[in-house]
Amino acid sequence: MKVRIFDTTLRDGEQTPGVSLTPNEKLEIALKLDELGVDVIEAGSAITSKGEREGIKLITRENLNAEICSFVRALPIDIDAALECDVDSVHLVIPTSDIHMKYKLKKTPQETLECAANAVEYAKDHGLIVELSAEDATRSDVNFLIELFNKGIELGADRVCVCDTVGVLTPEKSIELFKTLKEHIKVPISVHCHNDFGMATANTVCAIRGGAVQCHVTVNGVGERAGNASLEEVVMALQVLYGYETNIKTEKLYETSRVVSRLMKLPVPPNKAIVGDNAFAHEAGIHVDGLIKNTQTYEPIQPELVGNRRRIILGKHSGRAALKYKLNLMGIEVSEEQLNEIYEKVKHFGDLGKYISDIDLKAIVNEVTGKH
Ligand code: KIV
Ligand code: ZN
Repeated sequence: MKVRIFDTTLRDGEQTPGVSLTPNEKLEIALKLDELGVDVIEAGSAITSKGEREGIKLITRENLNAEICSFVRALPIDIDAALECDVDSVHLVIPTSDIHMKYKLKKTPQETLECAANAVEYAKDHGLIVELSAEDATRSDVNFLIELFNKGIELGADRVCVCDTVGVLTPEKSIELFKTLKEHIKVPISVHCHNDFGMATANTVCAIRGGAVQCHVTVNGVGERAGNASLEEVVMALQVLYGYETNIKTEKLYETSRVVSRLMKLPVPPNKAIVGDNAFAHEAGIHVDGLIKNTQTYEPIQPELVGNRRRIILGKHSGRAALKYKLNLMGIEVSEEQLNEIYEKVKHFGDLGKYISDIDLKAIVNEVTGKH
């Protein structure tokens, strides 16, 4: 089965505290996302500002393959702003939990339902694709959720989306919830997970297993608080661990990650799954020894599959085989005796708490071999 990837790096991702993109930066990221093969780009929230509209307009003018979407509240003023940017679709969001309806929206469930219905009707009357999204859906009454979605569908909503706004879903609940929704809802269901408990990827994958056919994700998992479900993790888990298909060109994941990191000024943690610089790095002697014999011993996938690369790190955990392998990769030939001497020096530096970079290693080799 093919899963649709709805990328919200430019909307929810840009809501990361301290992140703000210029219109041209938004365009640069959108071009990368389109090259990557995402199905939908949520380019921003058109009502936000003049600059935001400028950015969305730059993107819609490119005629990209991806569907271009704007976030809108269930308000005509928001939908008008999205129309001004010439988007294909709107991600039309309304809160559905008691706590959000009462304290944030200050509306009763009935008023909320009418508000959503009017907005869907307005957006459809203006020719937009509508994804009707329930904010805080995972803390909402499921019968109310179904009622609201079906009201929207009656009025033309093309897809619906379940938001785990504060990341409280669990994998088991996710499967159950989406199975239930699928029984009552006849349009494609989408999932939008946050990572407050580090469960966003697992919850997203389980939503797909339960019946969702589209997932909202961000590159590097950027987003509010602990972030959103990460595109690279979700895509690779779906494809490699569960056998789903997506339109993502996985070999472009690493470079896309770095473009987003640079423009958002958010470094990628080295241990980040799939795109971190340590995701395919090895230091322990026993690991490198296994890798040299067969990379599958300590790598679940080939780094090239995601555009990342294998790194052999030298330090106090390294073995002789790792050192030999690394020197070989660097095109350096040494005698057995010199290898032993270099090895002792690498261990010594490791014990001092240092890691040996390629430059350090070259310096050690020169010292031992007498070449300068
Ligand atoms: O997490 C969320 O609920 C959202 C919505 C506002 C769509 O991002
Ligand atoms: Zn969100």
